[in-house]
Amino acid sequence: MYSKIIGTGSYLPAKALTNFDLEKFVDTSHDWIVSRSGIVERHIAADNELTSDLALQASLQAIKAAGISADQIDLVIVATTTPDQIFPSTACILQDKLGIRNQGAAFDMQAVCGGFVYAMNTADLYIRSGQAKTALVVGAEVLSRILDWNDRTTCVLFGDGAGAVVLQASESPGIIAGKLHADGSHRDMLKAEGSINNGLVQGDPFIKMEGPAVFKFAVKVLSSVVEEVLEANQMQGSDIDWLIPHQANIRIMEATAKKLGLSMDNVIVTVATHGNTSAASIPLALDTAVRDGRIKAGQNILMEAVGGGFTWGAVLIRW
Ligand code: ACO
Repeated sequence: MYSKIIGTGSYLPAKALTNFDLEKFVDTSHDWIVSRSGIVERHIAADNELTSDLALQASLQAIKAAGISADQIDLVIVATTTPDQIFPSTACILQDKLGIRNQGAAFDMQAVCGGFVYAMNTADLYIRSGQAKTALVVGAEVLSRILDWNDRTTCVLFGDGAGAVVLQASESPGIIAGKLHADGSHRDMLKAEGSINNGLVQGDPFIKMEGPAVFKFAVKVLSSVVEEVLEANQMQGSDIDWLIPHQANIRIMEATAKKLGLSMDNVIVTVATHGNTSAASIPLALDTAVRDGRIKAGQNILMEAVGGGFTWGAVLIRW
Protein backbone atom coordinates (compact mmCIF):
# COMPACT_ATOMS: atom_id res chain seq x y z
CA MET A 1 0.00 0.00 0.00
CA TYR A 2 1.24 3.46 -0.92
CA SER A 3 -0.05 6.99 -0.41
CA LYS A 4 -0.50 8.85 -3.66
CA ILE A 5 -1.01 12.56 -4.26
CA ILE A 6 -4.33 12.87 -6.10
CA GLY A 7 -4.75 16.65 -5.94
CA THR A 8 -2.78 19.81 -5.19
CA GLY A 9 -3.74 23.40 -4.44
CA SER A 10 -2.22 26.65 -3.27
CA TYR A 11 -3.08 30.16 -2.21
CA LEU A 12 -1.16 33.43 -2.00
CA PRO A 13 -2.58 36.55 -0.33
CA ALA A 14 -3.42 39.31 -2.80
CA LYS A 15 -0.86 41.84 -1.53
CA ALA A 16 2.59 41.48 -3.10
CA LEU A 17 5.46 43.29 -1.39
CA THR A 18 8.42 43.86 -3.71
CA ASN A 19 12.03 44.48 -2.77
CA PHE A 20 11.52 48.04 -4.03
CA ASP A 21 8.60 48.44 -1.59
CA LEU A 22 10.92 47.21 1.21
CA GLU A 23 13.63 49.69 0.23
CA LYS A 24 11.21 52.47 1.25
CA PHE A 25 11.15 51.50 4.93
CA VAL A 26 14.10 49.10 5.51
CA ASP A 27 17.81 49.82 5.05
CA THR A 28 18.21 47.34 2.19
CA SER A 29 18.27 47.18 -1.60
CA HIS A 30 16.64 45.11 -4.32
CA ASP A 31 20.08 44.10 -5.59
CA TRP A 32 21.27 42.92 -2.16
CA ILE A 33 18.15 40.80 -1.59
CA VAL A 34 18.23 39.23 -5.07
CA SER A 35 21.96 38.49 -4.98
CA ARG A 36 21.89 36.98 -1.45
CA SER A 37 18.56 35.10 -1.60
CA GLY A 38 16.99 35.13 -5.09
CA ILE A 39 13.86 36.82 -3.70
CA VAL A 40 12.14 39.56 -5.74
CA GLU A 41 8.78 39.75 -4.00
CA ARG A 42 6.68 38.01 -1.37
CA HIS A 43 2.98 38.01 -0.48
CA ILE A 44 1.60 39.41 2.76
CA ALA A 45 -1.71 38.37 4.33
CA ALA A 46 -4.40 40.99 4.92
CA ASP A 47 -5.02 41.94 8.55
CA ASN A 48 -8.16 39.81 8.69
CA GLU A 49 -6.58 36.75 6.99
CA LEU A 50 -5.59 33.93 9.32
CA THR A 51 -3.46 30.88 8.62
CA SER A 52 -6.63 28.77 8.48
CA ASP A 53 -8.10 31.10 5.83
CA LEU A 54 -5.04 30.64 3.61
CA ALA A 55 -5.13 26.90 4.32
CA LEU A 56 -8.82 26.75 3.42
CA GLN A 57 -8.31 28.30 -0.03
CA ALA A 58 -5.40 25.96 -0.85
CA SER A 59 -7.35 22.95 0.47
CA LEU A 60 -10.48 23.73 -1.57
CA GLN A 61 -8.34 23.76 -4.72
CA ALA A 62 -6.61 20.49 -3.80
CA ILE A 63 -9.93 18.80 -2.98
CA LYS A 64 -11.39 19.99 -6.30
CA ALA A 65 -8.33 18.74 -8.20
CA ALA A 66 -8.60 15.38 -6.40
CA GLY A 67 -12.27 15.05 -7.38
CA ILE A 68 -13.34 13.99 -3.89
CA SER A 69 -15.75 15.41 -1.36
CA ALA A 70 -14.24 17.01 1.74
CA ASP A 71 -15.99 14.48 3.95
CA GLN A 72 -13.88 11.66 2.47
CA ILE A 73 -10.86 13.19 4.25
CA ASP A 74 -10.22 11.23 7.43
CA LEU A 75 -6.91 12.88 8.37
CA VAL A 76 -6.04 16.60 8.34
CA ILE A 77 -2.49 17.68 9.10
CA VAL A 78 -1.56 21.37 9.00
CA ALA A 79 2.15 22.16 9.12
CA THR A 80 2.47 25.65 10.54
CA THR A 81 4.54 27.81 12.85
CA THR A 82 1.92 30.55 12.89
CA PRO A 83 -1.28 28.87 14.13
CA ASP A 84 -4.47 30.95 14.38
CA GLN A 85 -4.45 30.54 18.15
CA ILE A 86 -2.74 28.47 20.84
CA PHE A 87 -5.51 25.91 20.60
CA PRO A 88 -7.58 24.38 19.05
CA SER A 89 -5.11 23.41 16.37
CA THR A 90 -5.32 25.10 12.98
CA ALA A 91 -6.03 21.60 11.60
CA CYS A 92 -9.20 21.36 13.72
CA ILE A 93 -10.23 24.87 12.63
CA LEU A 94 -9.59 23.92 8.98
CA GLN A 95 -11.52 20.66 9.38
CA ASP A 96 -14.49 22.68 10.60
CA LYS A 97 -14.19 25.34 7.87
CA LEU A 98 -14.18 22.53 5.26
CA GLY A 99 -17.36 21.12 6.80
CA ILE A 100 -15.75 17.74 7.53
CA ARG A 101 -17.96 15.96 10.07
CA ASN A 102 -16.61 12.40 9.89
CA GLN A 103 -14.60 12.64 13.13
CA GLY A 104 -11.33 11.73 11.40
CA ALA A 105 -8.07 12.84 13.04
CA ALA A 106 -6.77 16.42 12.77
CA PHE A 107 -3.61 17.91 14.22
CA ASP A 108 -0.89 20.48 13.57
CA MET A 109 2.73 19.70 12.81
CA GLN A 110 5.27 22.13 14.20
CA ALA A 111 8.64 21.68 12.53
CA VAL A 112 8.98 25.23 11.16
CA CYS A 113 10.37 25.18 7.60
CA GLY A 114 10.70 21.38 7.86
CA GLY A 115 6.97 21.12 8.59
CA PHE A 116 5.68 19.97 5.21
CA VAL A 117 8.11 17.06 4.85
CA TYR A 118 7.34 16.11 8.47
CA ALA A 119 3.60 16.21 7.72
CA MET A 120 3.93 14.23 4.47
CA ASN A 121 5.99 11.54 6.16
CA THR A 122 3.46 11.33 8.98
CA ALA A 123 0.43 11.15 6.69
CA ASP A 124 2.18 8.46 4.65
CA LEU A 125 2.68 6.35 7.80
CA TYR A 126 -1.01 6.77 8.74
CA ILE A 127 -2.15 5.70 5.27
CA ARG A 128 0.26 2.79 4.92
CA SER A 129 -0.69 1.47 8.36
CA GLY A 130 -4.39 1.59 7.40
CA GLN A 131 -5.27 4.23 10.02
CA ALA A 132 -6.36 6.70 7.33
CA LYS A 133 -7.50 6.40 3.71
CA THR A 134 -7.54 10.00 2.52
CA ALA A 135 -5.34 12.69 4.05
CA LEU A 136 -5.27 16.43 3.53
CA VAL A 137 -1.74 17.71 4.16
CA VAL A 138 -1.34 21.48 4.27
CA GLY A 139 1.54 23.88 4.80
CA ALA A 140 0.24 27.34 5.73
CA GLU A 141 1.91 30.37 7.26
CA VAL A 142 1.44 34.06 8.04
CA LEU A 143 5.08 34.62 8.89
CA SER A 144 4.67 38.36 8.33
CA ARG A 145 3.12 38.50 11.83
CA ILE A 146 6.28 37.21 13.53
CA LEU A 147 8.74 39.37 11.60
CA ASP A 148 10.45 42.40 13.07
CA TRP A 149 10.04 44.84 10.17
CA ASN A 150 13.02 46.82 11.52
CA ASP A 151 15.35 43.83 11.29
CA ARG A 152 16.69 43.79 7.73
CA THR A 153 18.49 40.48 8.29
CA THR A 154 15.16 38.61 8.52
CA CYS A 155 12.19 40.68 7.30
CA VAL A 156 13.30 40.68 3.65
CA LEU A 157 13.39 36.89 3.46
CA PHE A 158 9.93 35.63 4.43
CA GLY A 159 6.39 35.66 3.05
CA ASP A 160 2.87 34.31 3.60
CA GLY A 161 1.02 31.57 1.72
CA ALA A 162 -0.43 28.08 1.77
CA GLY A 163 -0.19 24.87 -0.22
CA ALA A 164 -2.14 21.63 0.12
CA VAL A 165 -2.15 18.08 -1.18
CA VAL A 166 -4.69 15.29 -0.94
CA LEU A 167 -3.05 11.92 -0.34
CA GLN A 168 -4.99 8.71 -0.85
CA ALA A 169 -4.27 5.03 -0.27
CA SER A 170 -3.23 3.41 -3.54
CA GLU A 171 -1.76 0.13 -4.74
CA SER A 172 0.58 1.97 -7.09
CA PRO A 173 3.30 4.44 -5.94
CA GLY A 174 3.05 7.05 -4.47
CA ILE A 175 5.37 8.14 -1.78
CA ILE A 176 8.28 5.73 -2.10
CA ALA A 177 10.35 6.80 0.88
CA GLY A 178 10.95 9.48 3.44
CA LYS A 179 13.38 10.35 6.22
CA LEU A 180 13.14 12.84 9.08
CA HIS A 181 15.83 14.21 11.38
CA ALA A 182 16.13 16.79 14.15
CA ASP A 183 18.93 18.19 16.29
CA GLY A 184 17.69 20.41 19.09
CA SER A 185 21.20 21.32 20.18
CA HIS A 186 21.16 23.99 17.43
CA ARG A 187 17.85 25.47 18.56
CA ASP A 188 19.28 28.95 19.17
CA MET A 189 20.46 29.48 15.57
CA LEU A 190 16.92 30.12 14.34
CA LYS A 191 14.13 30.89 16.75
CA ALA A 192 11.13 32.96 17.81
CA GLU A 193 11.39 32.59 21.55
CA GLY A 194 8.32 34.34 22.87
CA SER A 195 6.30 32.32 25.32
CA ILE A 196 2.69 32.47 26.38
CA ASN A 197 1.81 33.36 29.96
CA ASN A 198 -1.78 34.02 30.98
CA GLY A 199 -2.72 34.67 27.35
CA LEU A 200 0.01 37.25 26.77
CA VAL A 201 3.07 36.80 24.58
CA GLN A 202 6.09 37.26 26.80
CA GLY A 203 9.63 37.77 25.59
CA ASP A 204 10.47 38.35 21.95
CA PRO A 205 7.92 36.99 19.44
CA PHE A 206 10.03 37.79 16.34
CA ILE A 207 12.17 35.51 14.18
CA LYS A 208 15.86 35.67 15.06
CA MET A 209 18.39 34.00 12.83
CA GLU A 210 22.14 33.53 12.59
CA GLY A 211 21.94 33.71 8.78
CA PRO A 212 25.39 32.51 7.67
CA ALA A 213 25.42 29.66 10.24
CA VAL A 214 21.93 28.57 9.15
CA PHE A 215 23.08 28.68 5.54
CA LYS A 216 26.06 26.36 6.19
CA PHE A 217 24.00 23.96 8.31
CA ALA A 218 21.22 23.85 5.68
CA VAL A 219 23.57 22.99 2.82
CA LYS A 220 25.24 20.23 4.87
CA VAL A 221 22.14 18.43 6.16
CA LEU A 222 20.09 18.78 2.98
CA SER A 223 22.85 17.18 0.92
CA SER A 224 23.17 14.34 3.41
CA VAL A 225 19.44 13.60 3.75
CA VAL A 226 18.79 13.52 0.00
CA GLU A 227 21.73 11.14 -0.43
CA GLU A 228 20.44 9.03 2.46
CA VAL A 229 16.98 8.67 0.90
CA LEU A 230 18.31 7.97 -2.57
CA GLU A 231 20.85 5.38 -1.37
CA ALA A 232 18.22 3.56 0.70
CA ASN A 233 16.20 3.17 -2.49
CA GLN A 234 19.14 2.27 -4.78
CA MET A 235 18.67 5.50 -6.71
CA GLN A 236 20.96 8.35 -7.64
CA GLY A 237 20.60 12.02 -8.48
CA SER A 238 20.19 11.28 -12.17
CA ASP A 239 17.03 9.28 -11.39
CA ILE A 240 15.31 12.43 -10.10
CA ASP A 241 13.12 14.29 -12.57
CA TRP A 242 12.25 17.14 -10.21
CA LEU A 243 13.85 18.39 -7.03
CA ILE A 244 11.35 20.47 -5.02
CA PRO A 245 13.41 22.08 -2.26
CA HIS A 246 12.13 24.22 0.57
CA GLN A 247 12.26 27.69 -0.97
CA ALA A 248 14.50 29.52 1.51
CA ASN A 249 17.32 30.77 -0.62
CA ILE A 250 18.31 30.16 -4.26
CA ARG A 251 21.94 29.58 -3.25
CA ILE A 252 20.99 26.74 -0.87
CA MET A 253 18.91 25.17 -3.66
CA GLU A 254 21.77 25.47 -6.14
CA ALA A 255 24.17 23.83 -3.68
CA THR A 256 21.84 20.85 -3.11
CA ALA A 257 21.20 20.42 -6.84
CA LYS A 258 24.96 20.50 -7.52
CA LYS A 259 25.58 17.85 -4.88
CA LEU A 260 22.99 15.63 -6.60
CA GLY A 261 24.52 16.29 -10.03
CA LEU A 262 21.24 17.90 -11.11
CA SER A 263 20.87 20.85 -13.45
CA MET A 264 18.81 23.78 -12.15
CA ASP A 265 16.45 22.90 -15.04
CA ASN A 266 15.36 19.98 -12.83
CA VAL A 267 14.67 22.14 -9.79
CA ILE A 268 11.28 23.78 -9.13
CA VAL A 269 12.05 27.33 -8.01
CA THR A 270 9.41 29.76 -6.74
CA VAL A 271 11.47 31.66 -4.17
CA ALA A 272 11.69 34.73 -6.45
CA THR A 273 7.97 35.42 -6.21
CA HIS A 274 7.02 33.69 -2.93
CA GLY A 275 9.99 34.37 -0.62
CA ASN A 276 10.46 31.87 2.18
CA THR A 277 6.97 30.76 3.20
CA SER A 278 8.31 28.16 5.67
CA ALA A 279 6.04 25.07 5.80
CA ALA A 280 4.04 26.35 2.82
CA SER A 281 6.93 26.66 0.39
CA ILE A 282 7.14 23.09 -0.93
CA PRO A 283 3.39 22.56 -1.55
CA LEU A 284 3.22 26.02 -3.16
CA ALA A 285 6.09 25.09 -5.50
CA LEU A 286 4.59 21.64 -6.15
CA ASP A 287 1.20 23.08 -7.08
CA THR A 288 2.84 25.62 -9.39
CA ALA A 289 4.68 22.87 -11.28
CA VAL A 290 1.65 20.55 -11.40
CA ARG A 291 -0.57 23.28 -12.81
CA ASP A 292 1.94 24.48 -15.41
CA GLY A 293 2.35 20.89 -16.63
CA ARG A 294 6.01 20.34 -15.70
CA ILE A 295 5.22 17.42 -13.40
CA LYS A 296 4.04 14.35 -15.30
CA ALA A 297 2.93 10.80 -14.49
CA GLY A 298 5.76 8.37 -13.81
CA GLN A 299 8.32 11.03 -12.81
CA ASN A 300 10.44 10.85 -9.66
CA ILE A 301 10.14 13.84 -7.36
CA LEU A 302 12.35 14.58 -4.37
CA MET A 303 11.26 17.09 -1.74
CA GLU A 304 13.64 18.31 0.97
CA ALA A 305 13.52 20.92 3.71
CA VAL A 306 15.32 22.20 6.79
CA GLY A 307 13.91 24.47 9.45
CA GLY A 308 14.31 25.79 12.96
CA GLY A 309 14.80 23.21 15.64
CA PHE A 310 16.73 22.14 13.65
CA THR A 311 14.44 19.80 11.78
CA TRP A 312 15.12 18.41 8.35
CA GLY A 313 14.00 15.65 6.04
CA ALA A 314 13.15 14.45 2.57
CA VAL A 315 10.30 12.70 0.75
CA LEU A 316 10.69 10.70 -2.46
CA ILE A 317 7.60 10.40 -4.66
CA ARG A 318 6.74 8.56 -7.88
CA TRP A 319 4.14 10.77 -9.57
N1 ACO B 1 20.04 44.40 3.12
C1 ACO B 1 21.28 44.91 3.00
N2 ACO B 1 22.31 44.46 3.72
C2 ACO B 1 22.08 43.47 4.59
C3 ACO B 1 20.80 42.93 4.77
C4 ACO B 1 19.76 43.43 4.00
N3 ACO B 1 18.49 42.95 4.06
N4 ACO B 1 20.87 41.96 5.71
C5 ACO B 1 22.15 41.91 6.11
N5 ACO B 1 22.89 42.83 5.45
C6 ACO B 1 24.31 43.12 5.57
C7 ACO B 1 24.88 42.62 6.86
O1 ACO B 1 24.69 43.57 7.89
C8 ACO B 1 26.33 42.45 6.51
O2 ACO B 1 26.95 43.69 6.54
P1 ACO B 1 28.44 43.86 7.11
O3 ACO B 1 29.30 43.02 6.21
O4 ACO B 1 28.71 45.32 7.02
O5 ACO B 1 28.38 43.32 8.52
C9 ACO B 1 26.29 41.99 5.04
O6 ACO B 1 25.00 42.37 4.56
C10 ACO B 1 26.49 40.51 4.86
O7 ACO B 1 25.63 39.84 5.77
P2 ACO B 1 25.61 38.28 5.86
O8 ACO B 1 24.58 37.86 6.87
O9 ACO B 1 26.99 37.74 6.02
O10 ACO B 1 25.09 37.93 4.40
P3 ACO B 1 24.93 36.53 3.72
O11 ACO B 1 25.58 36.57 2.41
O12 ACO B 1 25.23 35.41 4.63
O13 ACO B 1 23.36 36.51 3.43
C11 ACO B 1 21.38 35.52 4.33
C12 ACO B 1 22.45 36.58 4.50
C13 ACO B 1 20.60 35.81 3.06
C14 ACO B 1 20.44 35.57 5.53
C15 ACO B 1 22.05 34.15 4.22
O14 ACO B 1 22.95 33.96 5.26
C16 ACO B 1 21.05 33.03 4.21
O15 ACO B 1 20.29 32.89 3.30
N6 ACO B 1 21.11 32.18 5.26
C17 ACO B 1 20.18 31.09 5.34
C18 ACO B 1 19.06 31.57 6.11
C19 ACO B 1 17.76 31.08 5.62
O16 ACO B 1 17.52 30.81 4.48
N7 ACO B 1 16.87 31.04 6.58
C20 ACO B 1 15.55 30.72 6.32
C21 ACO B 1 14.99 29.91 7.41
S1 ACO B 1 15.84 28.45 7.63
C22 ACO B 1 15.66 27.71 6.30
O17 ACO B 1 14.59 27.81 5.76
C23 ACO B 1 16.82 27.03 5.77
